[in-house]
Amino acid sequence: MADAVGNKAAHEYYLDVPVKKTPFYAKGLNNTDWGMKDRLSRIFQPQSGNTVMLAFDHGYFQGPTAGLERLDVVIENICDHADVLMATRGALRSCISPTHNKAVCLRATHDMSVLFEDLSTGSGFSVDIEDAIRMNASAIAMQCFVGAAGERDSLENLCRAADLGYKYGIPVLGVTAVGKEMARNARYFSLACRILAENGASFVKTYYCDDFEKVVASCPVPIVIAGGKKLPEDEALEMAYRAIASGANGVDMGRNVFQSEHPVEMLLAIRKVVHEGFNGKQAYEYFLDSINK
Ligand code: 5RP
Repeated sequence: MADAVGNKAAHEYYLDVPVKKTPFYAKGLNNTDWGMKDRLSRIFQPQSGNTVMLAFDHGYFQGPTAGLERLDVVIENICDHADVLMATRGALRSCISPTHNKAVCLRATHDMSVLFEDLSTGSGFSVDIEDAIRMNASAIAMQCFVGAAGERDSLENLCRAADLGYKYGIPVLGVTAVGKEMARNARYFSLACRILAENGASFVKTYYCDDFEKVVASCPVPIVIAGGKKLPEDEALEMAYRAIASGANGVDMGRNVFQSEHPVEMLLAIRKVVHEGFNGKQAYEYFLDSINK
């Protein structure tokens, strides 16, 4: 306790300085608790309102994925250039140093492995919330199968995660899964994103598509786009640009980064789009300049 003897009397009340009443900058999240906002601010950078997430959670159902055979080598070398690491607790604990001090979006669901034909039968809630807190997770990610066999179970898991997330101040990322039979258009993604947001996701991950501004407009919380399969760098940067220009608040890319021959330069070019307003062409020129230095 502070010493009570000889204290100076309080005198500076800044009576001419109005109290700030700034609403929280992330879309639809103004009415959340302080701890939730603190974690969201580690994800969505306050300067731009956007985020660059690096996804390397593929092994949770794919096993060793091309480019991710050695997480300790590949991800350790590039992760400082991302805002958020999206990964499983197994990958983080075994291969990634906690000293990077990056925000973590912890994958908290498990699915059927790639050995099965139909991957959309449902996810299990695979992480105890106490372990997410122990991992200092800034968010937990829940895979959801809207319009597929696993819909009911995965939405139940999402709701349970949202309850626990609100209890402990941890945002939930709702991840829209795409199955073989599922459409990849604005109508479907609008439906899926809206359902995840209304069931408690604090932000949603989905795929870029034509008319993406309609997907963003009808989703009450921030959207980040998934990268999907590896594209040539110029196309991936153009996709990121179009998503941001349509109102997305970030990207969560995996293969388009770690399967690039120049993953660091690719991440830096993505940052230019997400945080600094570069268009796809400018970002690709920046990428080429960086690799030719
Ligand atoms: C799967 C995921 C993965 O994190 C994501 O798809 C991997 O990223 P990318 O598609 O960019 O390789 O959420 O649902």
